[in-house]
Amino acid sequence: MSRRPLIAGNWKLNLGPAAAAAAAGELVELVAPIRDVDVVLFPTALSAQRVVEATSGTSVGVGVQWVSPHDTGAFTGRNSASMARELGCTWMLAGHSEARADLGDTDARVNGSLRAGMASGLLPMMALGEPLEVRESGNLEAFLAAQLSGGLDGLMADQVSTITLAYEPIWAIGTGVTATPQQAQDTHAFIRSWLRDNYPAFVADQVRILYGGSVKPGNAADLLAHPDIDGALVGGASLKPADFIRIIEAAQG
Ligand code: PGA
Repeated sequence: MSRRPLIAGNWKLNLGPAAAAAAAGELVELVAPIRDVDVVLFPTALSAQRVVEATSGTSVGVGVQWVSPHDTGAFTGRNSASMARELGCTWMLAGHSEARADLGDTDARVNGSLRAGMASGLLPMMALGEPLEVRESGNLEAFLAAQLSGGLDGLMADQVSTITLAYEPIWAIGTGVTATPQQAQDTHAFIRSWLRDNYPAFVADQVRILYGGSVKPGNAADLLAHPDIDGALVGGASLKPADFIRIIEAAQG
């Protein structure tokens, strides 16, 4: 089954409102001729309004990097899914390794964030990935299976089929070290087989699995050529539209 490629830019805590609006505006122009790739930006929540405005009426989607399992209430410093939706975001990210480390996200909270986002009509993306010592100790598959079963716990097959997964080995994020295309393909194939083992077949067929971790214009085509790599979640190289568009172009059929 062919899945539509998706290239997402994770801007993390970069690009304040003015810089984010400028970068999004530039990207919109560059993306205009591209028809067969979905493009999503995850700006910091403080820049999201400006990015929504800059991409309004275009094919570029905007997402929020983190949402609370709670929609409203006494949760100082958090983002609400329904408020992100009201602002014009259509996507959400959950489970990024930086949020797992900095914000203390557990698989249970990732699950709560996904539920809150889906209840508000946001398209969910869940990131997962292992530290180097897990890969080296031979426990990769058990580690990823635990993140999948914890993050997706209790969700119906129809819901899981709408989730985009982003496999990001922690040792490859922001380090300049990329998983080899074969390592990425093998891990994506494992994730898809886990979906096949746990849900009806349409779920594994539909779910897009992105690779993330030092994706650059120079390595994107090799990664994206593999059958189970349906796109990329790009950090550093998404900050410059001239670089990011080259990764988007590499995803074109
Ligand atoms: P990177 O970040 O492309 O800068 O490695 C990827 C990510 O954390 O999503």
